[in-house]
Amino acid sequence: MPPLLTVSKCTKRFQVSSGNRSMFTAVQNVSFDIFPGEILGLAGESGSGKTTISRLLLGLEQPDEGEIRYKGVAFTSLNRGDQQQSRREIQAVFQDPLASLNPVMRVSKIVAEPLKIQGIRATEGTDTFVKKLLESVGLSGACMKKRPDQLSGGEQQRVCIARALALRPRLLIADEPVSALDAELRGGILALLREFRDKSGISILLIAHDLSLFRGIANRVAIMYAGEVVEIGKTDDVLSRPRHPYTKELLQASPPYRIEDLRNNMLMKREKREVPEGNRCRYLSRCPRAVECCLNEIPPERKRGSGVYRCHL
Ligand SMILES: Nc1ncnc2c1ncn2[C@@H]1O[C@H](COP(=O)(O)OP(=O)(O)OP(=O)(O)O)[C@@H](O)[C@H]1O
Ligand code: SF4
Ligand SMILES: [Mg+2]
Repeated sequence: MPPLLTVSKCTKRFQVSSGNRSMFTAVQNVSFDIFPGEILGLAGESGSGKTTISRLLLGLEQPDEGEIRYKGVAFTSLNRGDQQQSRREIQAVFQDPLASLNPVMRVSKIVAEPLKIQGIRATEGTDTFVKKLLESVGLSGACMKKRPDQLSGGEQQRVCIARALALRPRLLIADEPVSALDAELRGGILALLREFRDKSGISILLIAHDLSLFRGIANRVAIMYAGEVVEIGKTDDVLSRPRHPYTKELLQASPPYRIEDLRNNMLMKREKREVPEGNRCRYLSRCPRAVECCLNEIPPERKRGSGVYRCHL
């Protein structure tokens, strides 16, 4: 089956600060596919480039190098109309549901807003459409009259998911959708995403810090370090038989850890170490298994089953 979306050798740099010409590479030479009906898990410590990837997919940032193809066609080669249509098919849900909902709007308006913006009429009438959509994410019609601050965190995230699904996207980017929720609510939201994948065949890029969240939900997992995808493969291969030393390190820190713990733990402290530039492995300064060639050769891409990892070992 051809991929729904292909990220091909994408690099994204940002200027470090105004007046300073030096550039910071947030995403470096990243390639991966997302297939129809699959959940691809994307993990990596804070600052590894996960949100930058999602912003590239959403068209909020443009890659400096490489290209992103949707249904086999590069976004940049589409005319404006086709580009808008393709972008409509890619929707997103973010970490903090309350921050992404308009506080003065009622839920009914929030969920119907994407249709209004696109000038689309729901054949069954807007109220029925919104009610059905809310029911599909496990919310009753009674929520329609509420404002976001009158809902629980889990309910707010369900409203965000309903809004994202209003335009019947083919790809949902879920950037840490459960990080702000407690453990009980996390399970419900993840089960909901899995149910949509199973029922509607939607593809989902699921970004998370906690690798254990991917078990039983993601078809494949990609691991990012310092802007690079260092390992990608089937969930069981990556989580049970990791090949890259960084994947092993991440797995040792999971489960269970909470975002609050993460802020203080070793991963965050180590993150401040300099990432070596040039012809060497970017994980070099932290790798417990480094050998001489890691110092002066970029690690090759090695195949493992249908997946790949980047390491000299
Ligand atoms: N617009 C920007 N300008 C400058 N630097 C940026 C910009 N956006 C992101 N960065 C930098 O790029 C790096 C990757 O950021 P990104 O938000 O993609 O990380 P992340 O993996 O999503 O982290 P987190 O887990 O904390 O959400 C960070 O060092 C960040 O400071
Ligand atoms: S290439 Fe070398 S430094 Fe990089 S992860 Fe592999 S062993 Fe470690
Ligand atoms: Mg992020």
